[in-house]
Amino acid sequence: MLRLSAGYLFVPYAELAKLTHNELLPTMGREFLEQPTIAKIGIVIVCLSFVFNIGMTILKGRKTVINMVLITGLIGLAVFFLFSFYNPINLALDKFFWWFVVHLWVEGVWELIMGALLAYVLIKVTGVDREHIEKWLYVIIAMALISGLIGMGHHFFWIGAPKYWLWMGSVFSALEPVPFFMMVLFAFKMVNERRIEHTNKIAITWAKGTAVMAFLGGVYGDFYIPLHP
Ligand SMILES: [Fe+2]
Repeated sequence: MLRLSAGYLFVPYAELAKLTHNELLPTMGREFLEQPTIAKIGIVIVCLSFVFNIGMTILKGRKTVINMVLITGLIGLAVFFLFSFYNPINLALDKFFWWFVVHLWVEGVWELIMGALLAYVLIKVTGVDREHIEKWLYVIIAMALISGLIGMGHHFFWIGAPKYWLWMGSVFSALEPVPFFMMVLFAFKMVNERRIEHTNKIAITWAKGTAVMAFLGGVYGDFYIPLHP
């Protein structure tokens, strides 16, 4: 494993591909999915162990909105990564499935995971009612899924997809910063309405800071792409 990690830094990429027998199941050579196949298998194992750990905890414990959102996100994380093992020779086809990992991770499942963690931290550090926090979480993840799933169309503009993706991708990806903006409002509003003065200031700063940074990323990454028609 050490040799493999060092490989990124010291071994030329083509040699790394040879070393890890990329020819058996070629998955290397795609941006963001550069990992040798064996490292990809490692990522799958890590995702599945999170699904297992959180899943078993949910089965034994209380089923809440927050942990349902979290497990949905984690299952999505594992399932969508499987497309990184499918590497069609046709470049247009390859791009479609490549975005299934790259876009659906960032604007789909990671938003669910982040929303769930944020909601959990906010309950703990603000003492605001769970019901109130959960209502916010519902709206945020609904917006994230509506904008994120169809917003994937902003990657389908020039890879041979039908023309309607120009409009679909543009309009829905323009909405992608909305759930992130709601997360900012959510974090700051809950902290303002807090019922307890929690000593863990770092957690409160994390909750606000992560929401703000994710929003800036959302605006940069998604809002500048739209309106191509
Ligand atoms: Fe995207």
